[in-house]
Amino acid sequence: MTYSLLAVALALSLLILAILTAIAFKLRGWFWNIHTDIASLHRALEASKEEVRARIAAATLEIINANSLNQLGQTFPVFLGGWSVDAFLGRWLIQHLVEERPKCILELGSGSSTVLIARSLQLLGEADTAHIVVDHEVKYLGITRDISQLNGVADNVEFLHCPLENYASVDKLWYGGLIERLGAHKIDLLIIDGPPGPLQPMSRYPALPLLMEHLAEHCTIVLDDAVREEEQEIARRWINENPGFELTVSFDGHGLAILKR
Ligand SMILES: C[S@@+](CC[C@H](N)C(=O)[O-])C[C@H]1O[C@@H](n2cnc3c(N)ncnc32)[C@H](O)[C@@H]1O
Repeated sequence: MTYSLLAVALALSLLILAILTAIAFKLRGWFWNIHTDIASLHRALEASKEEVRARIAAATLEIINANSLNQLGQTFPVFLGGWSVDAFLGRWLIQHLVEERPKCILELGSGSSTVLIARSLQLLGEADTAHIVVDHEVKYLGITRDISQLNGVADNVEFLHCPLENYASVDKLWYGGLIERLGAHKIDLLIIDGPPGPLQPMSRYPALPLLMEHLAEHCTIVLDDAVREEEQEIARRWINENPGFELTVSFDGHGLAILKR
């Protein structure tokens, strides 16, 4: 009888021990999962903090750049961002004009960039620099001319309206009649901000092959909107097809791809 009671007590003890062990394992699993979840939340939080810091730094730099561009003293507002160049490209352009003093500038896509460049050339006393601006839309070319006039910088700008036409050699729409109108000009600085990207695949690709004969031996080409995968592909194609050029890409704001030879 006593043995039977002892056996039952032992069996019960073992059962309780087994249950407690199972509970302990279960709790350990739960705690481990909670620990892992907290660690991954912590990592995600750190990454978000890093991203917010980077965005604040970029936005601050953009405001500083935009504020610096106001020092050009325009008498009528020149808008930045959206369809227009952003403050990063605006800053880059002015720095380039000051450092390199290009003698022939061609802009594909008229707008705020035109006024910033024309005003900078005026302040730098570079009246003999050829500043040619092309647009396929007569409306936007007219707006750019009006804003240039309001800012007193239209006189040294050559405004060319070139409606888009198909160029068989590249099988794309591009600025009709432009090559003929360039005459003997050799371009030191080429700014490519048109035709608009959504118009066709690789919309801005034709600029380099079609203008190659009109580029100065030492020249700079700047392609706006290089945060777009398509613009990056265009820049890579140019580099692959023209080994004499060096490419640098900046991803600030709209992004810039800069080719130098
Ligand atoms: C990216 S924009 C050129 C911007 C120019 N470089 C500037 O700084 O303002 C390319 C083309 O879009 C067209 N465009 C300009 N403003 C536009 C608007 N608000 N809506 C639709 N098209 C516009 C013009 O024909 C222009 O040549």
